[in-house]
Amino acid sequence: MITLLLADAEMEWYRSGDRTILLDRYRGGPEDLLTDTRRGRPDVVHSFLNMSLRSPLRGKGLEVMVHTRQDKLLIFGQDASVPADYLQFLQLLDPLMRNGSIGEGEAAIRLLDASFEKVVDGRKVLVFSPQGRRSDLSKVLKSKEEGWTAVIGGFTEGDFLSPVYQRADEVVSLGGELLTVPLVLCQALNALE
Ligand SMILES: C[S@@+](CC[C@H](N)C(=O)[O-])C[C@H]1O[C@@H](n2cnc3c(N)ncnc32)[C@H](O)[C@@H]1O
Repeated sequence: MITLLLADAEMEWYRSGDRTILLDRYRGGPEDLLTDTRRGRPDVVHSFLNMSLRSPLRGKGLEVMVHTRQDKLLIFGQDASVPADYLQFLQLLDPLMRNGSIGEGEAAIRLLDASFEKVVDGRKVLVFSPQGRRSDLSKVLKSKEEGWTAVIGGFTEGDFLSPVYQRADEVVSLGGELLTVPLVLCQALNALE
């Protein structure tokens, strides 16, 4: 089955003295980072993970990954999940950043360094974009085998920062209207079932 990748997700950490702090615009942060209104949105990552990691498709081989603007990559064991409560999710990210992993075996979540190009190296790439080609999503996604990664942008404004379109083998639109990440994910999961 296809791998779902949230790419260029607006989740990042900044240094303050000897501390490394997650940027969350709703909890404040350095002005120079927050003036860019797309930055500091771990809530978008949470909504993506909360839904995708609970999907019954996980038991059928669906892989889920998150790539961030700082070229961090979150990968998940087949039994890994995140708390439904957003504040508990944030608490989980601190030890993950410090130690590079949390949990054991198939319940583990790991944080690695990887650019978008490295994440999709040797893989076929399908990108979700309003500018893509309208098609029967179920037919398109179900025809993809294990070597395919389907990419959703993990941001609320602007476009991909990584060379996502340059690597795309297929760009798929769900209509001209701009949809939120959970709405795109919902349609993708539904089409895969
Ligand atoms: C909130 S949108 C990002 C906004 C960005 N200005 C854009 O035009 O894509 C988040 C992601 O959802 C996906 N997306 C949003 N609307 C879509 C649509 N109508 N068709 C396909 N994908 C869509 C894209 O992957 C996009 O990067």
